[in-house]
Amino acid sequence: MTLEKMTKKELIGLVQSLQAQRPENDVRRIKGASEEDLYKILAHSSQVGFYIMQDGRFQFINSHFREYGGYTEDELLQMSPTSIIVPEDRRKTAKNAVMMLKEQRFSPYEFRIATKDGRIKWIMETVMSITYKGKRAILGNSMDVTERKEAGRRLEELEALESSILDAIPQAVVGLHERRINFANHAAKLVFGWHREEMTGKSIKMIYRNEEEADKIGALFYSTLEHQRTYETEFPCLRKDGREIICRMKASRIGEKLRERRIVVTYEDITAEKKAQEELERSRQELRNLSAHLQFVREEESTRVARKIHDELGQSLTALQMDLSWLANRLPANSKTIREKIGGMTDIVDATVESVHSITTELRPSLLDDLGLPSAIEWQAADFQKRSGIRCQAQIACTGELIERDLATAVFRIFQETLTNIARHAKATQCRVTLSENEKEISLEVTDNGVGIMQWQVDDPRSFGMIGMRERAHLWGGTVHVRNVKPSGTAVRVIIPLTQRR
Ligand SMILES: Nc1ncnc2c1ncn2[C@@H]1O[C@H](COP(=O)(O)OP(=O)(O)OP(=O)(O)O)[C@@H](O)[C@H]1O
Ligand SMILES: [Mg+2]
Repeated sequence: MTLEKMTKKELIGLVQSLQAQRPENDVRRIKGASEEDLYKILAHSSQVGFYIMQDGRFQFINSHFREYGGYTEDELLQMSPTSIIVPEDRRKTAKNAVMMLKEQRFSPYEFRIATKDGRIKWIMETVMSITYKGKRAILGNSMDVTERKEAGRRLEELEALESSILDAIPQAVVGLHERRINFANHAAKLVFGWHREEMTGKSIKMIYRNEEEADKIGALFYSTLEHQRTYETEFPCLRKDGREIICRMKASRIGEKLRERRIVVTYEDITAEKKAQEELERSRQELRNLSAHLQFVREEESTRVARKIHDELGQSLTALQMDLSWLANRLPANSKTIREKIGGMTDIVDATVESVHSITTELRPSLLDDLGLPSAIEWQAADFQKRSGIRCQAQIACTGELIERDLATAVFRIFQETLTNIARHAKATQCRVTLSENEKEISLEVTDNGVGIMQWQVDDPRSFGMIGMRERAHLWGGTVHVRNVKPSGTAVRVIIPLTQRR
């Protein structure tokens, strides 16, 4: 029932019921009130904006309506009602109001007003025809819906932002509910070749190579996401064009629990990356094999040369030594000059024997072959101390029985490199060598009390000494760890497992 059609009695009833909710209003004022008074009472008791308009002017405005625009009652009574509406909304609002007055429209309409201090507010309004002071007038009911509109707008913005973020992501993002695709972003087309519309509503099986794999990955996702928020893995997928790709997948459940079985999965095509990685790994392996081979060839060559020098030069020198002493013994007693000459020659031959020995030892320490790694290390430590003046203490807790020849060579060469480094870089006065073994591994640790080392020096791709040590150890499945020690100095630790063989 419209207000216009209410009897005076019904209006009073309505006003009284409204006033019952607002006890501060004086009920007695209603008794004997005029129609105008009744509208006013009704309007003031209403929780919404309320106005009466007649002959293109406000005749009456309630306090709520005044609050919307921040105008005073006098100001509103003076101004044209349409002037508070923002210009762009005026025509449409007038049209809506006319339709509603003609009862061609029944739902409220919305428009914007400019407040006195220049802000924009959204108003929702209904109008109806009434009789006021015996003439036709318009009764307007309005509400400030700015907050609701703003919230709606923010939500829209958020949704727009969300979808633009989704579309900006280069990976395919797919929303799943019970393994059915809810949504997919633009990049899904790039990754899988399917348009998002082709994917929505379908089973996620469409992007896997076969049913079993689809079931397997599905079971994996759903079971892990029961107790963790996200899960990452790599898995083969199938594109629309039939090409197989490897995807890095990150799945996360929507919400705190997986109860609704809703998850989001991102798929990143890493086929090229994988291929490059494999390629890199393969070429690294080739380089390692080459370096191992070169080392092997070098060791073999050194051994061969050392043996040849030892056998041929050594024998000749020994023969010379014997001949010289034979000569010396047969010289007449008065041939002093010749005797001195022979003494000099003997000295030269002895020195040559000495250098031949040191050259062959450097090429291939015979100790390594004759007495094994522990003795060779001990001898090398003592020799180092003698040559460098750096005190070098060796602690050997290893029989060397489990160590085969090539492994012994590798450890010995690593040891030689650590000693060379100490002599060249450490500025140390002491060093300590520990060689130990158990049934699982052999361990060599060389510690000096020098200036210490920086991590970048260890990792520098130009540190060929370091690389060589690591490569030799790597060949035997072992590791080299270089660190600083307190109060100062460097420790190099080599660990080689004894179970692993090339
Ligand atoms: N015991 C050490 N104390 C201090 N610095 C060291 C020690 N060992 C190595 N370094 C530092 O690490 C760097 C890398 O060592 P690395 O053995 O790889 O190269 P290098 O000895 O300079 O050259 P080379 O290739 O002839 O061995 C050295 O240049 C040196 O600065
Ligand atoms: Mg070096």
